[in-house]
Amino acid sequence: MAKKKTLNTKVSIGRLKLKNPVMTAAGTFGYGEEYSKFLNLNNLGAIVVKGLSLLPKQGNPPTRIVETPAGMLNAIGLQNIGIENFIKEKLPFLRQFNTPVIVNFFGDSIKEYAKAAERLSRVSGIQALEMNISCPNRQAGWSIFGTDPKVTSKVVKTVRNATDRTLIVKLSPNVTDISLMARVAEDAGADAVSLINTITGMAIDIRTRKPKLANITGGLSGPAVRPVAVRMVWECSKAVNIPIIGMGGIISAEDALEF
Ligand SMILES: Cc1cc2nc3c(=O)[nH]c(=O)nc-3n(C[C@H](O)[C@H](O)[C@H](O)COP(=O)(O)O)c2cc1C
Repeated sequence: MAKKKTLNTKVSIGRLKLKNPVMTAAGTFGYGEEYSKFLNLNNLGAIVVKGLSLLPKQGNPPTRIVETPAGMLNAIGLQNIGIENFIKEKLPFLRQFNTPVIVNFFGDSIKEYAKAAERLSRVSGIQALEMNISCPNRQAGWSIFGTDPKVTSKVVKTVRNATDRTLIVKLSPNVTDISLMARVAEDAGADAVSLINTITGMAIDIRTRKPKLANITGGLSGPAVRPVAVRMVWECSKAVNIPIIGMGGIISAEDALEF
């Protein structure tokens, strides 16, 4: 009888070894526990948790979510419970599983990114860090870190010096040339890049003639963005030698295989 072939699904990102390359997208899976009734978290390659900052953040006022054709716009405003509460209240649950935990994090200054990375690196049970650079920089008039190559280089280098954990840089798609940003992240010491984050969009309520989101603009995600995500992953794959974690609009195994 022919021997049944098993597929080797193992992948490595820096020093991090995963049993398979399937992981959650930050912010779409809470802190893991919320979804543990729906799937066995041991089956995932990694659990990526909602983006954390040094201090808790309330996020934006409502309306924060709007449905769009084949997708959604969100302007949650990076609401989160803060790093210390995550370590105390959420991480113990995740430690029961045989699945690496990747913490997505951000800061509103380069110093805050470094402090957050340093704090997270002192905690056992966090195997890798994913830095979200699609957020506003207080010291530069709230412009987005990840849309300026010089700022991206500086913030990634600073975080690289602050952590010995596997470092993933999550790229913003709201740029002209994403392959340049991937190269900048690689040169600054990233072990991997992940993409895409949401694409900035806007929706209008034609009855009130006002934006549907209180924040006016929001981030577009869901199946509508998948062709853009696949194109950007392809562009980055030609530009860097580090692993690329692809995401954007994946709702089936077939969608994931496109990447
Ligand atoms: C409600 C919501 C919250 C998100 N929060 C974060 C976050 O905290 N950090 C981050 O890097 N990306 C965040 N993202 C972006 C997702 O991780 C992902 O990059 C994007 O939504 C595209 O994937 P999708 O189409 O599969 O949702 C968020 C997305 C959504 C929809």
